[in-house]
Amino acid sequence: MTADQHILIRKTFAKVLPFSAEAAALFYQRLFELNPGLRSLFPADTEHQGRMFIQTLAVIVKSVDRLDQIRPELENLGRRHAGYGARPQDYQTVRAALLWTIGQMAAEIFTSAASEAWTEMFDDVAGIMRAAACETQRARHTA
Ligand code: HEM
Repeated sequence: MTADQHILIRKTFAKVLPFSAEAAALFYQRLFELNPGLRSLFPADTEHQGRMFIQTLAVIVKSVDRLDQIRPELENLGRRHAGYGARPQDYQTVRAALLWTIGQMAAEIFTSAASEAWTEMFDDVAGIMRAAACETQRARHTA
């Protein structure tokens, strides 16, 4: 990722963070529209969960130029997600819902370059999470 992409991500996220409850509500609404089957994985009340999701995104965005520094946390997050029932293909649905939400909330500055930057960052993070989840499962099978 380039320094310009980091700036684009931070600028767009700055439009979302002050309205994190609204962002979380839009995100889940979109996620469950895209795949209603995911609803049953989440608790009935997604408010607390949504706050944690946006807070974690804030940490990721802050560290976007040095993701290696938060790699162990992302790996743990990925391992926990295997336990929540998140499958590899669900990451694409979560990405689509997240980008749509940011597009709604930062509409005037959510250019195609910003969208590409978010896609790259999300895929980097998802790659770290999924690889850790995968390794844990493989270790369990061979144990
Ligand atoms: C970059 C991607 C993602 C991030 C940053 C993220 C972040 C989080 C965070 C911070 C939590 C709170 C609990 C914890 O820290 O363990 C959480 C819970 C959860 N996530 Fe994610 N998540 C991501 C992708 C996904 C995907 C792809 C799915 C699959 C549908 C998913 C499903 C869930 C579920 C079901 C819970 C709630 C578990 C429960 O409370 O019972 N997440 N997520």
